[in-house]
Amino acid sequence: MKKVVCPGSFDPITFGHLDIIKRASSLFDEVVVAVLVNKTKKSLFTVDDRMEMIREVTAEYKNVTVASWSGLLVDYCEENKIQAIVKGLRAVTDFDYELQMSQMNLQLKGVETLFMSTAPAHSFLSSSLVKEIAAYDGDISGYVPAQLVERVKSALSNN
Ligand code: PNS
Repeated sequence: MKKVVCPGSFDPITFGHLDIIKRASSLFDEVVVAVLVNKTKKSLFTVDDRMEMIREVTAEYKNVTVASWSGLLVDYCEENKIQAIVKGLRAVTDFDYELQMSQMNLQLKGVETLFMSTAPAHSFLSSSLVKEIAAYDGDISGYVPAQLVERVKSALSNN
């Protein structure tokens, strides 16, 4: 039983994240999408809101579950018997930091990281840019699932 975790902030989940989750779900028996609390980032959505949105847009993938964790990712992996982390790599700009984290996670608890290249159509996409575009009333419908568009806009206007 190959169980992997796709971790991230998912603030909010984008088509880029969804593409990696979908592709991972076709490769592994079980995929846990874990919303990690990143203490260095200020988030727009609560962890519960982020989990709810992920559940909504991944409902069709039957081997995908959603979780949250506020500690080290490797501790989540150890506690849940997960041997590998799956992450998307958008461009070389992601590489240094992702490599560093993957080596640290390997060093800390022997947890492997598998990188999947982001589909070219999503390589420029990030949750931060989605929020910036929405904040200036730009059209984000090409970047997040349709059911999240209004939710992102209204979260920003109440922020
Ligand atoms: O979507 P993000 O913000 O790029 O995801 C980064 C994330 C949340 C996966 C990373 O910051 C993380 O793993 N945080 C959990 C705390 C942790 O384990 N830190 C040490 C990393 S070596």
